[in-house]
Amino acid sequence: MVFRLAVTLTNKITEIRTLFQSDTKSVSDSIDSINSLKTKYLGRKGIISGLFRQLRDVASGDRSITGKELNKLKEEITDVLQSLLSHVSRTDIQQPQISKDIHLPGDYIRVGSLHPIEKTIQEVKRIFSSIGFSVVYGPEIDDEYHNFEALNLPKHHPARDMQDTFYVSKDVVLRTHTSNTQIHVMEEQEPPLRFIIPGRVYRNEAISVRSYCLFHQVEGLYVNEHVSFAELKGTLEYFVRNFFGDDVNARFRPSFFPFTEPSAEMDISCIFCRGGGCSTCKKTGWLEILGCGMVDPAVFEKVGYDPIKWKGYAFGMGIERLAMLKYRIDDIRLFFNGDVRFLRQFT
Ligand code: DAH
Repeated sequence: MVFRLAVTLTNKITEIRTLFQSDTKSVSDSIDSINSLKTKYLGRKGIISGLFRQLRDVASGDRSITGKELNKLKEEITDVLQSLLSHVSRTDIQQPQISKDIHLPGDYIRVGSLHPIEKTIQEVKRIFSSIGFSVVYGPEIDDEYHNFEALNLPKHHPARDMQDTFYVSKDVVLRTHTSNTQIHVMEEQEPPLRFIIPGRVYRNEAISVRSYCLFHQVEGLYVNEHVSFAELKGTLEYFVRNFFGDDVNARFRPSFFPFTEPSAEMDISCIFCRGGGCSTCKKTGWLEILGCGMVDPAVFEKVGYDPIKWKGYAFGMGIERLAMLKYRIDDIRLFFNGDVRFLRQFT
């Protein structure tokens, strides 16, 4: 009985081979008909799968040899169908070209474009890479320790209110800034370090023309034995002149961030009115674009760096803000609603 099953299956394999050969002769030169042949033989409920199912009933001694024959048949069929398909798809492409009137205008092919946020990030990366910064990425879901505590923002510190936080669970948050990644990198690597961190951040804010529940930042960190505030200013001025143009001026105002001391905010001369005063700069002639400062020794202590030996500067800026200024976009929500009429303008 068992012996007969193996013979029966071998006979069937031969039969199917013949059947397939005659099927391929009658198949028409269209992708659809070849595909239906493919389903008939190689589909999940196709002939070959059926034969493989029968293989289970063949005695174990014969199974391996019959299985090999079956695999061989499957390969043959796959090869033939493959070559039929590649032949048809080649002729499919050629045909319309031959039949087309060459005097007609060509087909309009719509080209995709980079999202303005991606474009801006690429530009920021290009500028900082040119002066020796590498690029690193960090987690968007993080623990409170990396997003707050290690950045000198202990629990219940009022400065935490500066950033409305989305909690994932008790100690886990959606990062409110890319500064979290400063800590991750410093925990893993020894100074000197010089890198930027582009990425998404999240804040539980009311959505408006100016704020959205998620946006992008680029963070920067430089740590070495001798780092001065003058170097920080020089680096950021180099950046804004490259990004906005040579005629842009910068100024630094004292500010506060828990992870830097001293801290500053940087303004650029208004790129719309050139400092004369307009509605975008609220008649001040200046536009605020980033926060920065010298790394607070308390942060170095958290990551186990000797704060006497190592100095550093850090900065963080909003990508949407840069893009809105550069491309004159007046509503931050446009970046997130995927309206192709908006996106097509960046082709
Ligand atoms: N993390 C700050 C924010 O999200 C931005 C920032 C300010 C980053 C100063 C820095 C810095 O590294 O030094 O508002």
